[in-house]
Formats: sequence, C-alpha cells, structure tokens
Amino acid sequence: MKKEFKVSQADILLQKDIADQLSGLICGTKKYYIQTYGCQMNSHDSEKIAGIFEQCGFVKASDKTSADLIVFNTCCVREHAELRVFGNVGALRTQKEENHELIIGVCGCMMQQEDVAKKLYKRYPFVDLIFGTHEMYKLPEMLSNVINGQRVINLAKNDDDIAEGIPVIRNGSFSTNVNIMYGCNNFCSYCIVPYVRGRERSRSHKDIIDEIRQLSALGYTEITLLGQNVNSYRSPDAGESIDFPGLLKLINEIDGIERIRFLTSHPKDLSHRLIEAMATLDKVCKHIHLPVQSGSTRILDEMNRKYTREGYLALVDELKKNVPGIEITTDIIVGFPGETDEDFNDTLTLVEAVGYSAAYTFKYSKRKGTKAAVMQNQVSEEVKKQRLRRLNDCVVMTLKMLNEKYIGTRGVVLVEGCDDTRSGKMAFGKLSNFKTVYFPGDESLIGQYLVVSIDEVMNNSLKGTLVSK
Ligand code: 5AD
Ligand code: SF4
Repeated sequence: MKKEFKVSQADILLQKDIADQLSGLICGTKKYYIQTYGCQMNSHDSEKIAGIFEQCGFVKASDKTSADLIVFNTCCVREHAELRVFGNVGALRTQKEENHELIIGVCGCMMQQEDVAKKLYKRYPFVDLIFGTHEMYKLPEMLSNVINGQRVINLAKNDDDIAEGIPVIRNGSFSTNVNIMYGCNNFCSYCIVPYVRGRERSRSHKDIIDEIRQLSALGYTEITLLGQNVNSYRSPDAGESIDFPGLLKLINEIDGIERIRFLTSHPKDLSHRLIEAMATLDKVCKHIHLPVQSGSTRILDEMNRKYTREGYLALVDELKKNVPGIEITTDIIVGFPGETDEDFNDTLTLVEAVGYSAAYTFKYSKRKGTKAAVMQNQVSEEVKKQRLRRLNDCVVMTLKMLNEKYIGTRGVVLVEGCDDTRSGKMAFGKLSNFKTVYFPGDESLIGQYLVVSIDEVMNNSLKGTLVSK
C-alpha cells in the first residue's frame, strides 16, 4: 500500500486562520529578513517561509539591520556551515539589545539535529524561535506564540508533513523550483540528510501538475524539480503508478513550460526509462546532475552508494549515446575515511573519463551519528586539502579541452541576468545542457530564449554573439 504523507486540510486551514489574525495585527508594519545556507532545497524552503511571513502581514526587509524578524535557514551537510551559523547568530546579540522587539529565528536541517538545536537554545537566550525541517507549515502558530512572549522550539520529527497550498514568494519570475519529494532512504555512510529530512515521501502527481500549471499561468517557463533522489519518485495517488519518467511525461505536456530540469539523481536508481524520457521529451533539458562521490569501487562500497565505478561509467556511456549533447555535472568527496592515494587516483581518472561540465567538490566532513564518523583511518586535513586542490585542477583541465567543441556552434540560451564588464554590458544565461553562455546584451533580454553562436571558451563558461531574437 502506498502511503499518503499529507497534512490534513483542517490543519492547513487552522494555520491560515492564525496567519490571517496576525496579518490584521501586523498589517505591513514589520519587516522580515531570511538568510539561507545550503542547497536548492533549502532556498526553496526559504521561499515558503517568506510566503508564510507575508501571509502573516510582514513585508520583506532590504537588509538584516532594518528587519523586525530575522530567520536563519540552516544547513548541516558539512561542519563549517554549522560554525558559520553559530557565529552569525551570535553577531545579532547587539541588534537584539538595541531592539527588544526584534524576533530572531533559526530553522532548517541544522536545527533538526536535537543536540545542536538545544546547544543553540541554551547558548543564545535571545533566540526566540527554533524549528526543524518537518513542521514549517505551523509557522503562523509558532510566530503567534513568540509574539505573545514565549520562546518556541519545535523539533518535531513527523514524516506526515507534506503541506499543500502554502504560499510561496518566489525569487525569480521565469525560472523556479518545485518540490516533488522530500527526505531520503539511502543512508550513504557519510551523509546526515536522511536523519534530518526524514524518510522518502513523494507528493501527489496531481498536486505537482496543478502547481506547475499555475506557475506557467504566472509566466514561469523553466521548472526545476527538486528531491534528494528524484529517480525514486512514486506518486502516492491511489490506483496510479506514476514514476519519475511518467511524471516528466505529464509535465512535458503543460503549455507554456519550455524547460524541465531536475535535481538530484542517484546513479543506482537511474533507469533506462529515464534515459529514454530524456532522449524523447523535448522540454526535458539535456543535463543531468549525477553525483559520483568517488571513482573507487572500494570507497563507493564503504560509502554505501550501491554502484561500482564500472557501473557508473556504463551509465554515463548510455546517457551520452542516447541523449546527444548531454552534459553531466557531479558531486565528489575527497578524503573519505580510508581513502588511499590509489583510491584518489581512481577518482581523478574517472573525472577524465567522464568529462564533467562542472563538479562540486568537497573535503569529507565528519557528521555525528553517521556510520563514517566512527570509521577508522580518518584522513588528515592536510591530505584532504591537497587532494581537493589536485581534483579541482583536474576538473578544470578536462573542462577546458571539452569546451573547445562548442566553438562555432549555436544554441538557445535562457537569459538570466546581465553584468557590467570591461568590454561593456554582457547578458548571461544557460543552454539546455546547463552550460553558461555570456554575450553582449542588456537587461531587456532577461527571461527570453535566444539563439547565440559560440565564439570563445572560458574556464567555466562560453562566450558568444546573439544570432536572433
Ligand atoms: N562531507 C563532505 N561532503 C558531503 N556531502 C554530503 N555529506 C558530506 C560530508 N559528510 C556532499 C555530497 C553530496 C553533496 C550535496 O554534499 O557530495 O552529494
Ligand atoms: Fe545523502 Fe546519499 Fe541521500 Fe544524497 S542519496 S541525500 S548523499 S544519503
């Protein structure tokens, strides 16, 4: 039996009532500021938090110092993020002393770690509101309690928490994110995400399609589907058997949507059906983010990734053969416990063999409560640093060679922004395959799909000229 993880409509309405009451009280007289750390999932959560704040009558502040309500939406995937949050929250002490009405909140993944949340609660008595990743929809109630003088700490761990109909204040006007699932069941041995985001749970495909139809009506043309492991998406709707490729097919039919992206794909679950969907559905972008983490089969096994180096390379071959022009990006960890020079060398040779168009590289960071944190043979900081440097050099070298093939080609760019440079105003945006292209152009082009010819390659991007509007 597939399980529905939805919050009841009555609970959503109750929160809306509380928000309406607060809104009557606050009426745009107070400002909020949200500082976000971490991944796209967190950024999207912040858009929902902003939606709830505005529903409660707050308006957006242009900076932290002018805000009456400051919230830090935290990440805990790596240790340094945690240190930064403690520093930045601590730095608000003076602002709070000067303005006793100021509300300070800390939320997100880091606060879902009970010991860390309690440490923060104790160390910073001026923090009014702490909540984790599960009950964000109860924010109106939490906020109301804070306004009534309470200190609130909500560390609930409840997987039945998919809340539909929460207002969202989106950062962009043509490209945006849509959650399709939450949580992760994979328990990679280094990773804290399954502990703080809970079990895997998919949204109803009907709710997803409704949301994207509404976004299309508002003028959004590019959608990025978010989930920790989108390939294990399964619609919970009774009598339906819609998996991720099935969902892509439904979204591909929505008028007004031009580009569909998705994040993140676990290699162990990347099916032939998904590759076929990428090859045949015209709106699905020719890009896949496929974290490899390591090029050594032995380390992959220790990481509990459930694929081998050879299996990964075979997948990459299949993708390249079936989806012409595809670009692949990845995540890689160096210095996982027990990683030898030989294992690391396997990572370097894999990077050369695949030819990534971008790699997000990280030094292994010990996360309390994960299997890898208690493994023997932890790698020294010095060795991690050296390996990270060598890996980044290797990525850039392969990338430079691979970019050459773009010279003289043409592609469609969705323009995202515009920079003032020494050679004048340059517009920039992405090809379907996620390559960034710069070309002479101004703000008026933002949000448009334009044909650009490529004449030059830079380290991380391409440079071109506008062919047609
Ligand atoms: N140390 C270093 N990097 C990590 N990641 C996840 N957990 C850790 C950790 N403990 C990286 C992985 C993942 C990305 C989002 O963060 O590469 O894909
Ligand atoms: Fe973490 Fe692995 Fe889940 Fe990704 S798939 S969120 S790395 S446990």
